[in-house]
Formats: sequence, structure tokens, C-alpha cells
Amino acid sequence: LELPHFYFFAGAKTPNSFPVPDLPELAFVGRSNVGKSSLINALGDSRSARTSTKPGFTQQINFYAVGSLFNMVDMPGYGFAYVKEEEKVKWKELIESYISQRELLLRIYVLLDARHGLSVSLCNNLVILERHQVAFQIVLTKCDLVTAVDLARRHVLVEKGLAEFRHAVDKPLMVSSETSAGIFMMRKEMLRLAGG
Ligand code: GTP
Ligand code: MG
Repeated sequence: LELPHFYFFAGAKTPNSFPVPDLPELAFVGRSNVGKSSLINALGDSRSARTSTKPGFTQQINFYAVGSLFNMVDMPGYGFAYVKEEEKVKWKELIESYISQRELLLRIYVLLDARHGLSVSLCNNLVILERHQVAFQIVLTKCDLVTAVDLARRHVLVEKGLAEFRHAVDKPLMVSSETSAGIFMMRKEMLRLAGG
């Protein structure tokens, strides 16, 4: 199962430069270095989204069209200690303004490293999503770095931790952009969501 041709079409550093909404959107958020851009590339089977070993790499909201079906939206990471405080505030405002005003936003994928659990700071960000009433789904990333037993355990814990969130939808996904584990399943879900 492959997605239609996938290409970058807009980058936004301010809300004024968000592209006019045309297609349903699926957005990717999470800490710096969690693997957002790598996952977008793995899903699209390309290297269109730029990635880096250095956290804080993606510095604007990047929009990728998946044929004429839907857009994938790559966000800057948050929680990166080496970024200036004013930059952090700017990104937080940029992400929140995207989340609060995007009419065609179908779902937010909240990426979480499979080696880590739900932290207090992540839960605080989930509360923000709840406030804006957007559906979100957790995606455990870098699953190649944990054993199958640990992954199963982590999955159960994360699911339990989400019980209090009304806008947490569907079960957490588990993926690896390195081995492509879970990528087929995620593409299938995205196509279903976007009605393709
Ligand atoms: P920012 O743009 O800084 O917010 O980071 P990001 O979330 O877009 O992360 P990115 O995709 O740039 O990946 C960060 C690092 O993690 C890179 O060195 C990737 O090669 C690595 N990485 C991403 N996905 C995986 C994965 O599934 N497995 C492993 N082992 N490494 C991964
Ligand atoms: Mg990135």
C-alpha cells in the first residue's frame, strides 16, 4: 500500500503565511528529535521532509500534499533546551494558532518516543489539544529501539494514561521509520480518515 505522490508545497513561520485550506489535514506534533519529519518521509516513501540528528531542526510549519487526498503537516518540535526562550514562545504560539484556526484539521498525531512514557509536560500539551477540541492520536516512534515485550508494556501504559482525555481517539499506533514497522497500518488509517 502506497500513498499518492507526496510533495512539499508551503512553509509557514507565521499564521499569516498558512496556505489557504484546500484539503483535509493530518498534523504531526511532538518533542524535538522524536521523529516527526522521518515519519512523514517513511509514510510518503520519500525524502521530501528534511530531518536531522540535531534537535530543533524543523523551524517552521511545513505542508506536504499527498496527491489531492490530504495534507501532512510537519510542526517544529517543542521542548528543545538549546533554543532561545523567545523562539520557544514563538513556536508554541505558531502551533497553537494552527491548531485553533485550521478548519480542515482532521487529527493531530502526537508522537512519543517508545522508550519514554507520558510525561507531565506532554500531558500539559494534551490538555491544550483538549481545550481546542481537536482529536489526537498517540504514535509511539522509534519502536526498533525497544524490545517487543517493552513495547507491549509501554502501549498498555500509554493507553491507560489517555483514559482521562476525551479527545484521544483510537489506539496508539506503533511505528519505526527505520524498519518501516507499522507504516503500512498507519497509511491505511490515514487513507480511511481522509476518505481516500
Ligand atoms: P525536529 O524537527 O527537531 O522537531 O525533529 P523531528 O521530530 O522532525 O525528528 P527527525 O525526524 O529529524 O529525527 C530525529 C532523529 O531521530 C534522526 O537522527 C533520525 O534518524 C532519528 N529517527 C527518526 N525516526 C527513527 C526511528 O524510527 N528509529 C530510529 N532508530 N531512529 C529514528
Ligand atoms: Mg523535523
